Amino acid sequence: MTKENYSFIDEVRRRRTFAIISHPDAGKTTLTEKFLLYGGAIRSAGSVKSRRSNKHAVSDWMEIEKKRGISVTSSVLQFNYDDFCINILDTPGHQDFSEDTYRTLMAADSAVMVIDCAKGVEDQTKKLFHVCKMRGIPIFTFINKMDRAGKDPFDLMEDIEKVLGIRSYPMNWPIRKDNNFKGVFNRQKKQIELFHGGNHGQDIANTITGDITDEKFSDLLGENLHEELKSEIELLDIAGDNFNLEEILKGELTPLFFGSALTNFGVEPFLKSFLDITTPPKPRKSNLGDINPESKNFSGFVFKIQANMNRAHRDRIAFLRICSGKFEKGMTVNHVQKNKKVRLAQPQQFLAQDRAIVDTAYPGDIIGIHDPGIFKIGDTLCEDQSKLQYEGIPQFAPEHFAKISTKNSLKRKHFLKGIKQLAEEGTIQVYKKPHTGMEELIIGVVGVLQFEVLEYRLKNEYGVDLLNERLPFHYIRWVEMDNFDPSTFSITMDTMIVEDMNEKPVLLFQNEWSINKVAERNPKAVLKDVSV
Ligand code: G4P
Repeated sequence: MTKENYSFIDEVRRRRTFAIISHPDAGKTTLTEKFLLYGGAIRSAGSVKSRRSNKHAVSDWMEIEKKRGISVTSSVLQFNYDDFCINILDTPGHQDFSEDTYRTLMAADSAVMVIDCAKGVEDQTKKLFHVCKMRGIPIFTFINKMDRAGKDPFDLMEDIEKVLGIRSYPMNWPIRKDNNFKGVFNRQKKQIELFHGGNHGQDIANTITGDITDEKFSDLLGENLHEELKSEIELLDIAGDNFNLEEILKGELTPLFFGSALTNFGVEPFLKSFLDITTPPKPRKSNLGDINPESKNFSGFVFKIQANMNRAHRDRIAFLRICSGKFEKGMTVNHVQKNKKVRLAQPQQFLAQDRAIVDTAYPGDIIGIHDPGIFKIGDTLCEDQSKLQYEGIPQFAPEHFAKISTKNSLKRKHFLKGIKQLAEEGTIQVYKKPHTGMEELIIGVVGVLQFEVLEYRLKNEYGVDLLNERLPFHYIRWVEMDNFDPSTFSITMDTMIVEDMNEKPVLLFQNEWSINKVAERNPKAVLKDVSV
């Protein structure tokens, strides 16, 4: 079928929208690049990386990104593979990742978790996994860098179960000799797949396949390795979990793949299997019940706002996840929260290499729309007048806190306006002491870089010089209990009680010991690290 022949329903059903989560350096960028290579979106590997280093020249990101040479915000890539239209939501790989990274996961229908085979599950992966688990989306695991020395595959499975609390089902099993990655045993097809070629990852790799009992593998692998493989597979079949599609789709069992993104070994089988198992966009929860993506009425929600992508215009881009209906350039939609009509002119889509103006888009797609300052994170846009609102986007736990004020008290109005805007865009979270005005504000951020973003933007957009005193807190808990009273709630000496902008009670902690102590002392309170 050619692209022109796809009906609206075909377009929805061929969409796959997922995020790649990992700790920095596990190989997320390399794997993404290889997906693009197989999708034909790039001719040879290496272009995404060079794009990363040349980014200053090709796009107009914020000044601060240029200075630091890192990506502050996450982006979206779209490409076609077979009959599928794939949207990859990228998440910043740098240590200073922000709340945006978490929010991006709200727009994904599934996640690919990349793990370095030598390191196992690392910190940032743990945090991102936690959000995927909360959403109950399918999570696929790609154990990367199998071309290098790494942990034993059985130990890696145990690591995933112990650290993340999810069981795994190896879809393939690695065949390695003296740390040379030869290939895998494909458990679905029950065949050996030996990799070769690929020009060190520049090109598509080839495979030799065959039944595990085929004598040729004794020659190709050596008798010992062949026998070892057979007994490992037997052990997996007897002692391991069974393949259970229902559990996979609920995010309770993770299909596990071994491969090497750099050498292209195992990338295409992984992609094929992933596309086979994952589903198109599913119905989304709203105040009017579940909304079917195949419904004709256009709707979507804003999950991210990015400022100043184009310095000349100082404008913002709101990232919209389309949930139902067909999007058409120039259409007028209802901004539900503001009860206002908005015309979606100049919408952008993020194709493999560049941003481009998009004419049409479908459920599962992400489009960037011009934001003259009217959108908030979590806003719903829809075609009809139904007052449809998608479930809000949670506030995720910041890990760094500061007390802020303006150096010049005459600028106080600008300061408050700037803080309000930045909070609505989701750059910072704002708290204050209970029952006080806005005199003394505390802000929380997920990554410390956001402090710099805040300072830079207040100065550049609002002319405000910021006084910023870092606080020693690293943990936050939203308190859920009836009749919360800050004057009687029992906390430790080093804990602070504040409230968020929705007037929900919040506790700021310096260490986990205090969290446990406060939980013990207040058995009626439920302490949550996400506010929905
Ligand atoms: P990230 O986006 O998750 O941060 O990781 P990225 O893809 O940038 O990969 C981090 C490093 O790991 C890179 O090396 C990359 O080449 C390497 N890498 C990725 N996949 C594999 C793999 O399958 N096998 C091996 N051996 N290495 C892999 P670098 O030296 O930091 O960067 P570069 O000089 O290659 O650009």
